[in-house]
Amino acid sequence: MSPVKVQKIVCIGAGYVGGPTCAVIAQKCPEIIVTIVDLNEARINAWNDEQYRLPIYEPGLVEVVRSCRGKNLFFSTDVDKGIQEADLIFVSVNTPTKKSGVGAGFAADLNYVELATRRIAAVATSNKIVVEKSTVPCRTAESMRTILEANAKPNCRFDILSNPEFLAEGTAIKDLHNPDRVLIGSLQTPEGLAACQSLSDVYAHWVSRDQILTVGLWSSELSKLAANAMLAQRISSINALSAICEATGANIDEVANAVGYDSRIGPKFLKASVGFGGSCFQKDILNLVYLSESLHLPEVAAYWRQVVEMNEHQKSRFAKRVVDSLFNTITNKRITVLGFAFKADTGDTRESAAISLIRDFLKEKANVNLYDPQVEEHQIWQDLAEASPNLSLETIKKQVNICSSSLEACKDAEAIVIATEWKEFKEIDWETVYQGMNKPAFVFDGRLLVDEDKLTKIGFKVVTIGRGSL
Ligand code: UDX
Ligand code: ADP
Repeated sequence: MSPVKVQKIVCIGAGYVGGPTCAVIAQKCPEIIVTIVDLNEARINAWNDEQYRLPIYEPGLVEVVRSCRGKNLFFSTDVDKGIQEADLIFVSVNTPTKKSGVGAGFAADLNYVELATRRIAAVATSNKIVVEKSTVPCRTAESMRTILEANAKPNCRFDILSNPEFLAEGTAIKDLHNPDRVLIGSLQTPEGLAACQSLSDVYAHWVSRDQILTVGLWSSELSKLAANAMLAQRISSINALSAICEATGANIDEVANAVGYDSRIGPKFLKASVGFGGSCFQKDILNLVYLSESLHLPEVAAYWRQVVEMNEHQKSRFAKRVVDSLFNTITNKRITVLGFAFKADTGDTRESAAISLIRDFLKEKANVNLYDPQVEEHQIWQDLAEASPNLSLETIKKQVNICSSSLEACKDAEAIVIATEWKEFKEIDWETVYQGMNKPAFVFDGRLLVDEDKLTKIGFKVVTIGRGSL
């Protein structure tokens, strides 16, 4: 069984994963035609925008798209044509946590994966390598295979691969250009191994062969959940320690630095924060919890669940610290929240800590001034409305004021809460901000971002995650 030389790739799903990943494949493999398809017409139009106002913000992405769009990279809503022409199909659709039914709140909603898979089976007229790219629970590839085989036309073969994506938002292009590893899972049959070889050959255009790991399907699927769960666990661990620091006067940065010097632990992902967000960590851990419970492993489920619970605790603990420091009430006080994205350098707000913070401030009847350099207004209103279902959007809009700069947002406020580590917040003119605020003027640094000594000298009362109180 010799591997197929891939000539045409289609990616179903033009989101945060499929868009950047397949744009980089097009950039690195000029002889392969890459088409990214999506049912969402507005999204595709934005990918095709003449001024390159792309639907997602990611440093370096515009340059990649500019280098190959219209040459070997195309964006289209014609999903069926894309499927028919391709010899390799990435399935990169959304897999949110289920909101209702069995496994609600934990299991992944595989409806989109299933619909995309059924569409492939319905319209494909030649052999296809189908690559599962979305983060999915273990054994999803098996379900996809069953659907494809049950609906395949005669003489139409489907080989399934799992190729989880490890890019992080904000550094997606860098991560794609220089991945730590590429992971490909396949059935260990001659056909499965040949398909695996075909995809390896695509990545080998720019990734060294020894960084392309080939494993079984199930190992590949589980590795993605495991990697995200272990990364999130590190953050919850450091955040748990930040609470001890605050209560004892130790400094979490010093502790993280000392701990990270141990080469077995390493320095990365030890930054205490107001809590992790993003579309993956919580979702993947909840998937792992659900999987463990389904496998009758309640202790394992409880272990991983605690990582998410610690994260929830960190967010509410920080909100409470704001209220406590402002003399136990923030009713009618103006609180500035700087940052709404779940991390810097992205416009993505999924599971952002800022959403929980503002929800808690609204419960306390505070007035909130909000500024984020990238997140769009309609997204903010949608997130805040979802987070506070018992408040009308009208009420929320009365209490929250979206501003167009940090300076505007900080004017006349009692307190500033840093929720996202945008670089521009480090460079704020704090003297001017201080002059425009009510006194005492508080800064709550949820991201260990600002120079506490400098701000204290100006006159601010600074409260920082993982450092003892004022
Ligand atoms: C994550 C994984 O890193 C990536 O490999 C996977 O493919 C998708 O999920 P992402 O969610 O985009 O990527 O960003 P990441 O950099 O991992 O940050 C996640 C959250 O953790 C952010 O809210 C970030 O601010 C927070 N974080 C990260 C910390 O609070 N402290 C840290 O030390 C690192
Ligand atoms: P991710 O962060 O995993 O990339 P997104 O939600 O950003 O997730 O993107 C997933 C994309 O997949 C969305 O733009 C959605 O419209 C698209 N999508 C979902 N189902 C289908 C489908 N059956 N066919 C084509 N596109 C789909």
